Amino acid sequence: MKALVYLGPHRKSLEDRPKPVITAPTDAIVKVTRTTICGTDLHILKGDVPTCTSGRILGHEGVGIVDAVGAAVTAFKAGDRVLISCVSACGKCVNCRRQMYSHCSTGGWILGNSIDGTQAEFVRIPHADMSLYPIPAGADEEALVMLSDILPTALECGVLNGRVQPGCTVAIVGSGPIGLAALLTAQFYSPAEIIMIDLDEGRLAVAKRFGATATINSRDGKAADAVMKRTAGLGVDTAIEAVGVPATFELCQQIVAAGGTIANIGVHGVKVDLHLEQLWDRNISLTTRLVDTVSTPMLLKTLCSQKLDPKPLITHRFKLDHILDAYETFAHAAETRALKVLIEA
Ligand SMILES: NC(=O)c1ccc[n+]([C@@H]2O[C@H](COP(=O)([O-])OP(=O)(O)OC[C@H]3O[C@@H](n4cnc5c(N)ncnc54)[C@H](O)[C@@H]3O)[C@@H](O)[C@H]2O)c1
Ligand SMILES: [Zn+2]
Ligand SMILES: [Zn+2]
Repeated sequence: MKALVYLGPHRKSLEDRPKPVITAPTDAIVKVTRTTICGTDLHILKGDVPTCTSGRILGHEGVGIVDAVGAAVTAFKAGDRVLISCVSACGKCVNCRRQMYSHCSTGGWILGNSIDGTQAEFVRIPHADMSLYPIPAGADEEALVMLSDILPTALECGVLNGRVQPGCTVAIVGSGPIGLAALLTAQFYSPAEIIMIDLDEGRLAVAKRFGATATINSRDGKAADAVMKRTAGLGVDTAIEAVGVPATFELCQQIVAAGGTIANIGVHGVKVDLHLEQLWDRNISLTTRLVDTVSTPMLLKTLCSQKLDPKPLITHRFKLDHILDAYETFAHAAETRALKVLIEA
């Protein structure tokens, strides 16, 4: 089968690989019909993720058709159409029993990281009963690919951890796929204000179309002043960090209101300062989280009932044969205006 293989920092290729086989009774083999590329795949290609080693097939998002199941899989059978979760969960270990699937002792985010992933014709899914979801009849399978990772991540790490409530004010720093997914899911809770902040005017224009009440380009270094002006000097109840660099976490600390919450989503590769000398008396909360995908069943329902429409996040489509072009397009988003690139088998 064809597969996109990581060959160490800055190197990847489309190769012929053997089709995966069932290695544990709880496994399923899924024929991947649609997958996508995540910002995290670009982190891997920079060499930022040491658990992902040379020879690994990348990808942790997608939908497909079950090809075969192990003897212990009871929820799925060959031929079932399924959504693949970016997080694998045994459902039985201490952390799974707390619904903290991201820290499953034999799972978590392993797909396209420490085991082969979805950017291939077939993928082996461990703990299949807990890590796949049946696709409801009539659901749009392109839109569903957005439910493998970015929507649960934005909802759980940003909106829920950030305690977004009716009438509150929210700022989302970063208007990439994750920030935009936070913008979409924050609207479940009817906040009065959602301010989107980014350096890229193109992405801010998308944010306006997705329901932002205001957009701020932080290129001039005055984003904190602009947020304060817009919130009568109070700051925002929820500041969501959706970039993963020191400057954006600093900005969240400058704009959080007294009693507010900073919800970090971004993957941080370098040291970031926490300004307790300014925040110690501000009654704020700070949260961090790796996506657990506990919200996936709820997101599936909202998608099917059209309360959520993630399809406009898809900007480009490629065949698996052209996945190297897809990577080029996705890696140069400022020029190509790419958000999510869909890869079809
Ligand atoms: N916590 C989790 O479980 C989890 C899961 C998935 C992704 N992530 C992380 O979420 C982050 C966002 O993901 P994405 O796919 O949207 O990334 P992305 O790189 O596509 O988007 C980031 C956006 O931030 C903007 N930006 C960069 N520097 C900025 C600055 N100084 N000020 C304002 N805006 C700035 C960019 O223009 C871009 O639009 C990444 O760090 C990713 O690794 C975390
Ligand atoms: Zn991802
Ligand atoms: Zn577990």
